[in-house]
Amino acid sequence: ATPIIFDTDPGVDDAQAIAIALAHPDIELLGLTTTFGNVEVETATHNALLLSELAGQSIPVAQGAAAPLVKPKAPAPAHIHGADGLGNIDLPAVTGKPQPVSAAQFIVDTVNARPGEVTLVAVGPLGNLAAALQLDPGIVDRVRRVVIMGGSIREGGNVTPVAEANLYNDPHAGARVLTAGWPLTLVGLDATHRCVLDPEAMERIAAAQGELGRVLAESYTFYKDFYRQALGINGCCPHDSCSLAWLMKPELFTTQRGHLNVVTEGPAMGQTVFAPEGRPFITEQWSTTPLAEVCLNADGPAVIDWIVETL
Ligand code: BDR
Ligand code: CA
Repeated sequence: ATPIIFDTDPGVDDAQAIAIALAHPDIELLGLTTTFGNVEVETATHNALLLSELAGQSIPVAQGAAAPLVKPKAPAPAHIHGADGLGNIDLPAVTGKPQPVSAAQFIVDTVNARPGEVTLVAVGPLGNLAAALQLDPGIVDRVRRVVIMGGSIREGGNVTPVAEANLYNDPHAGARVLTAGWPLTLVGLDATHRCVLDPEAMERIAAAQGELGRVLAESYTFYKDFYRQALGINGCCPHDSCSLAWLMKPELFTTQRGHLNVVTEGPAMGQTVFAPEGRPFITEQWSTTPLAEVCLNADGPAVIDWIVETL
């Protein structure tokens, strides 16, 4: 199985991705690290513990970033994921406690304990990975890969016309993480907007997952309203699950290598900028930015089938 740390801000689509990480026989979930983003970080931690308990597993949860590195913190978007991050539904009590170490320390310790083995999958703002890099820059050479749900190459944004939410919420952390020089794949809106989980697919998941399925289905109902209003579709884009779909089934995605960065200031703040390898006009600043892999497209129906089958 592929050992991963899942860095997350649950969040409705995060919750589904966590359920996948817990359920998939070829994923070894070493820990959940939490960040502010869809909710405040304390709520993210609560939800991470809850989801693991609902799946009958006790996965270590380490709490991390409460705010962006540089830009002022904005309130969490309660109209998208609910004030509780899970669509304002009835939630059972949580019994577990988070780890006594920070998310960044947990990442560093776990990567260093298994050099070359651990994949970091990050589906929220990137402060925890940035803090881990600062604690121990050597992890760049010891992670197996970094997979990020974030950004948008040609698709445009989902929080401003050009910026995707995870990178917009902490663009300075995003820039550090995307240019750190570790093996990195970006699964952004170009791929995730091709995938629409409709109510019928959600019913199949709910039926198979017991109490966890009820939580996923009820939170989905709330999240769906946002998609109807914002994109006019009947269903949700399972953004964060797509990062795991890429990890397990990369053949379902179209990718390209190139130099990748994030705009940190001004009207394009949070926008991902990408120069395909070998393109003309690669200036020195661009050529010294390490190469990364970005997703440009996905086989949406096949990704949805993979999600439903996994759950
Ligand atoms: C990303 O933003 C968050 O709201 C979702 O959980 C996902 O990680 C999509 O842009
Ligand atoms: Ca997320």
